[in-house]
Amino acid sequence: DALWCVVPAAGKGVRAGGDRPKQYQWLAGRPLIDHTLERLAAHPRIAGLLVAIAADDTHFAATDTIGGKPLIVTVGGSERSASVLAGLHALPAGVADDEFVLVHDAARPCVRAVDIERLVELAGKGEGGLLGAPLRDTLKRADAGCHSIATEARDGRWRAFTPQMFRRAALAHALRLAAEAGIVVSDEAMAMERTGVSPLLVEGSEDNIKVTTPADFALAEFLLGRTR
Ligand code: CTP
Ligand code: MG
Repeated sequence: DALWCVVPAAGKGVRAGGDRPKQYQWLAGRPLIDHTLERLAAHPRIAGLLVAIAADDTHFAATDTIGGKPLIVTVGGSERSASVLAGLHALPAGVADDEFVLVHDAARPCVRAVDIERLVELAGKGEGGLLGAPLRDTLKRADAGCHSIATEARDGRWRAFTPQMFRRAALAHALRLAAEAGIVVSDEAMAMERTGVSPLLVEGSEDNIKVTTPADFALAEFLLGRTR
């Protein structure tokens, strides 16, 4: 069965600069987020989209459709994890507690359909997982003055991407626990790890960048054309 996808899009995009949050800045002639949502909506594994936005965002109508699939909008929070939790709460009542839900950053417009397919196929056999890629570069530990003081093992170290996929209630529970403990989790997998789950890492394309800095827009525009 097709899954719902929560899309956190309530960030301010401070590192990207510009006159508006990065998800609304132009990429290949359209707002960045439109590329992300269209790619997700076109995927046969995805049933509908739940977008968590900032309270003052005017980009969406309250309920909408995209590519013939439902698109629901809700107000996110001051941390990414709070936005995801708000999204989980706003899912349609028909989404069962034990159903898998995808979470995908609005700021990752270059995600490949084949990677979503592999994630759903492989991580759905267990308690969920995430796209990522093993580290390629040598990893340094730096002191406050940016001097390299140690070289860390690269083996077994991965970068975490999205989508990430977990069961709806388990993920909401894990995010709530972290929030109650005052711990800011940077992704869903981190919240799940804290509850004793070991999410499956599914290797995905490095092209699935998170647009973060001004230079990333040109790179994403290039990658958009070759990752479909
Ligand atoms: N996000 C969110 N709610 C927040 C913070 C972030 O929904 N309170 C979303 C962003 O909109 C983005 C994704 O989470 O789609 C990944 O976060 P990040 O790349 O850090 O985006 P921003 O927080 O907007 O950027 P910055 O950290 O540079 O301000
Ligand atoms: Mg951020």
